[in-house]
Amino acid sequence: MRYATITGWGKAIPPAILSNADLETIMDTSDEWISTRTGIKERRIAEVETSDMAALAGRQAIAAAGKTPEDVDLIVLATCSPDTLLPSAAAWAQTKLGATNAAAFDINAACSGFLYSLIVATNMIKGGTSKCALVIGSEKLHKYVNFRDRTTAVLFGDGAGAVLLEAVEQDEPIGLISSEMGLEVGTEELLWAPQSGISGYTDEPVTSNRAIQMGGSEVFRRAVTMMADSSERVLAEAGWEAGDVDLMIPHQANVRIIDAATRRLGLDESKVFVNIASYGNTSGATIPIALTEALEEGRIQPGAKLVFAAFGAGLTWAAATFQWGDRITPIEDYQVEFPSSDLSGIDLIQANLEYFGRNDVPGDGAGNP
Ligand code: ACO
Repeated sequence: MRYATITGWGKAIPPAILSNADLETIMDTSDEWISTRTGIKERRIAEVETSDMAALAGRQAIAAAGKTPEDVDLIVLATCSPDTLLPSAAAWAQTKLGATNAAAFDINAACSGFLYSLIVATNMIKGGTSKCALVIGSEKLHKYVNFRDRTTAVLFGDGAGAVLLEAVEQDEPIGLISSEMGLEVGTEELLWAPQSGISGYTDEPVTSNRAIQMGGSEVFRRAVTMMADSSERVLAEAGWEAGDVDLMIPHQANVRIIDAATRRLGLDESKVFVNIASYGNTSGATIPIALTEALEEGRIQPGAKLVFAAFGAGLTWAAATFQWGDRITPIEDYQVEFPSSDLSGIDLIQANLEYFGRNDVPGDGAGNP
């Protein structure tokens, strides 16, 4: 049988940090509120583009697999914050990578984007369209955030992660064992950036509608149900019990969502990977960054049974069980290096603060109507 297995992994974490203490200086919030309500302590702010981070994480994943960019025949880039809508961020990333033999496209399923992409690429490999696929999640979400709205600004961050998927012929199942993806109808406006696409190209001035808006508590409630229910279904389809799972790698949106969903699944917290404190919600990038860090920290052993689950704007959801292979160390180390810069996280959001200060920020600037 033909399967798709992960042979390389990588991440690109922008150097500039924006801490909760930094946010305290620009809005009515506190480290205590953010930490206890979300689990986030700090997030990264990128100076480079989404495609630059995608290429850096992708290059590390290719090296970890002992391959070259020319070996890649497909790039699937999960992002809801592409450098440009036309062409795709995948096109820019392909050129920056020198992946001259690859087809490339973006998938926008917001925070479920990486799992959507992993499922699509796996099936393209199984179907024979691809042999060597680079699946990336990369986001520059701070451009979508109104740093004068405390109800959203504290949640998001920038970064990228990637995996290299390769075709293998073998009898024993490997890679994705079971998976599902879905979208709940009629929930588009629960979590959205109204002026982020073509319908926002009007004669009206661009306003605070450029930023992410959401019904936080409603999204929270649905997220717990989506992540727990879809994980239960993929576990049942794989014939795995919760006790069989070595590590769950959930989308990192809020530690309380992760705790509630994994408690419902009956998973011990030692079997759940959480790194939200350092990066916040990087949307399509959270799972590949977390997977890379789980490998770096020795949390994934040869033959490990993994579960992935995510939800995001749409509202989309996706979940998968994944049988890891033998190798848990990179074949070749590629050091990710960002262009040197003296700018801090707070420096990098000054233009945003000025922009949203100039325009029609609703309410009192603290997110209150
Ligand atoms: N600092 C201080 N106070 C705050 C802040 C803040 N940053 N944000 C909100 N508050 C206040 C509110 O104004 C409210 O005050 P009030 O009681 O006086 O009205 C109070 O805190 C409680 O607000 P809630 O919204 O009820 O707080 P909640 O515990 O629900 O947490 C949160 C809010 C963190 C947004 C939570 O609802 C959440 O995580 N929702 C899911 C968000 C999510 O995961 N989105 C996915 C996006 S991914 C994508 O696809 C791009």
